[in-house]
Amino acid sequence: MSTTTTDATAADELDAQQQFDALIDADQRIEPRDWMPDAYRRTLIRQISQHAHSEIIGMQPEANWITRAPSLKRKAILMAKVQDEAGHGLYLYSAAQTLGITRDEMTEQLIAGRARYSSIFNYLTPTWADMGAIGWLVDGAAICNQVPLCRASYGPYGRAMVRICKEESFHQRQGFEILLELAQGTPAQKRMAQDAVNRWYWPSIMMFGPPDDDSPNSAQSMAWKIKRFSNDELRSRFVGMLVPQFEALGLECPDKDLRFDEESGRWITGPIDWDEFQAVLDGRGPMNSQRLRHRREAHESGAWVREAAAEYARKQQEKARFAA
Ligand SMILES: [Fe+2]
Ligand SMILES: [Fe+2]
Repeated sequence: MSTTTTDATAADELDAQQQFDALIDADQRIEPRDWMPDAYRRTLIRQISQHAHSEIIGMQPEANWITRAPSLKRKAILMAKVQDEAGHGLYLYSAAQTLGITRDEMTEQLIAGRARYSSIFNYLTPTWADMGAIGWLVDGAAICNQVPLCRASYGPYGRAMVRICKEESFHQRQGFEILLELAQGTPAQKRMAQDAVNRWYWPSIMMFGPPDDDSPNSAQSMAWKIKRFSNDELRSRFVGMLVPQFEALGLECPDKDLRFDEESGRWITGPIDWDEFQAVLDGRGPMNSQRLRHRREAHESGAWVREAAAEYARKQQEKARFAA
């Protein structure tokens, strides 16, 4: 009897796996109630929650400049941009929740230092020009990474990305425009713009992750159609997009070895310092501990808001029960 049940379960699972494979093959979307392999679910939870954490931690380096923005207009734009990032974090946490993890679990993983977020946000923002460099380079790299994710096989993730990408392109333009104004300003302003670009250029190149031959999880993510292009392919597209923009800005590209390879049709960068990338990833970047400490403190000091909201919801429910 039990053997029959096991056989039936195994047959059901085989059937579910075939349906899943057929959906992926046909470029259809996997939705929260569909069966999916455990590894697919785990990969998505990890990727989407890391992405959400990056949006939330990424608010800090720019929030650092809100009170010191050089004009009211710049302050309003920067505030809007930082608020957008908070919204991106929320869409993404919601998308991850559809896979069976709670928001509390994700927050706990982040503030306990057990979750990863993009290591780019562990760098310093010492000047106003860093706001330009972050918008242009960091949001620019994010767009190259994220536009293909709009077609990710998991429905809630792909749909969240559509909205996020629209806002990211505004972010990139505002960064470019900050740099353009500085680059066309006094010699000191132009130097400030160049210095900030020099600081952010290589970390933004590293945002695409390790080279293809050193990226063990990429092949499976591509087979599942979560990821559509390889790290090196996306990196090449990004630098290719930057080349004419460097010219328009009148700034120099810090990569003196950058070249276009006719044969592969790709831009080839100079040597990338992967030791630095690993060090920042391992928590030894200039701002890792401060970013986490700040996030933890913000979470703790927001406890009363969460408690008040929960109490308000409880009272509303009670009222509705009495009225019924
Ligand atoms: Fe964002
Ligand atoms: Fe952004």
